[in-house]
Amino acid sequence: MSVTLHSAYELSGLRVPNRMVMAPMTRCRALGNVPNELMAAYYRQRAGAGLIITEGVSPSPNGLGYARIPGAFSAEQTEGWRKVTTAVHEAGGRIFMQIMHTGRVSHPANLPQGARVLAPSVVALEETEMWVDAEMGTLPMPAPEAMTSEEVEATIGEFVAAASNAIDAGFDGVELHGANGYLIEQFIHPHTNRRDDEWGGSVEARLSFALEVTRRVADAVGAHRVGFRMSPWGVFNEMPHYDEIDETYLALARGLSDLGIAYVHLLDHSPLGAPEVPQSTKDAVRAAFDGTLIRCGGFDAASGEAEVESGRADLIAFGRPFLANPDLPARYATGAELNEPRPDLFYTHEAEGYTDYPALEGGAEGDGEA
Ligand SMILES: Cc1cc2nc3c(=O)[nH]c(=O)nc-3n(C[C@H](O)[C@H](O)[C@H](O)COP(=O)(O)O)c2cc1C
Repeated sequence: MSVTLHSAYELSGLRVPNRMVMAPMTRCRALGNVPNELMAAYYRQRAGAGLIITEGVSPSPNGLGYARIPGAFSAEQTEGWRKVTTAVHEAGGRIFMQIMHTGRVSHPANLPQGARVLAPSVVALEETEMWVDAEMGTLPMPAPEAMTSEEVEATIGEFVAAASNAIDAGFDGVELHGANGYLIEQFIHPHTNRRDDEWGGSVEARLSFALEVTRRVADAVGAHRVGFRMSPWGVFNEMPHYDEIDETYLALARGLSDLGIAYVHLLDHSPLGAPEVPQSTKDAVRAAFDGTLIRCGGFDAASGEAEVESGRADLIAFGRPFLANPDLPARYATGAELNEPRPDLFYTHEAEGYTDYPALEGGAEGDGEA
């Protein structure tokens, strides 16, 4: 029997009833950086996904670069997350936390008091501005401070503690955000990593932060509960192309495979207008990594189905389709029409444009009510 988006799958011991993953999406509803009832309602509505991956969650006060993103480093945050995992599990779903440290992609006015904008090296974003609640506007981001080697070690410890907090809060696992120009990719990339200590220089040294974070998190919570998101050839957050991209990602995929983690989540945002990711790169990552491969970026029911059917991926993550359609798997099963996303409401602090996308009449998942 051929594999479809509706076929069940075993993800390192976790049975997922379909191949449709909800992609991680920052939504900025975590007032005070603490998860709340509104967020629990949003995720509960989407529990029909084979697997939900949360929005990016910071392991540290220093990683809260954007306004109103949640953290996973305080007891209050862990209690908030428990509401989310309980709601999703009660509705029959499964949920991983995406751990995202923003690094240099940060405005100090978004950070809590005492937190600092830390990155591998002093390399500022030059063309990107960031929304700052305190100023009610977008502002340029100042240059980050380069981490000392003690701060690198401390930051790895923060990733480990956040992963343990996530498991305490009831998550089924964690995804490390190694994509889209945030801290882990800032270490991988020669433009943002200009260090001459053990964490910088050669391809191997630039990968050491990513692999050490993954190894330590896997030791703490079990490799079967860890995924890693990567975006080879991605340019988001001013990450220009460099010579050794394919060599870097092949080595990374091999290193992650050796660690035995559950999955790699491979992005190709070219359907959204980003530069092409060569098929050969995607094939090389697939071949080098022994675990599950999730693919994401611009998929719909037909293209997602073709990808899993061909074996190029095991699971497909959908971002905007899940954002706008709480009952996406039911809609894909029946060919029902889709709600359109409302991008002007992606990052506000309200229920509007968040929990009010309607489910199908009589649908099992997602009640469309806040
Ligand atoms: C509103 C919004 C927020 C996003 N936030 C994150 C995030 O926190 N972490 C992440 O890895 N990707 C993030 N992404 C990227 C998505 O996970 C996904 O890769 C992208 O939307 C492409 O998939 P799609 O074409 O199915 O929407 C975000 C995308 C959107 C639309």
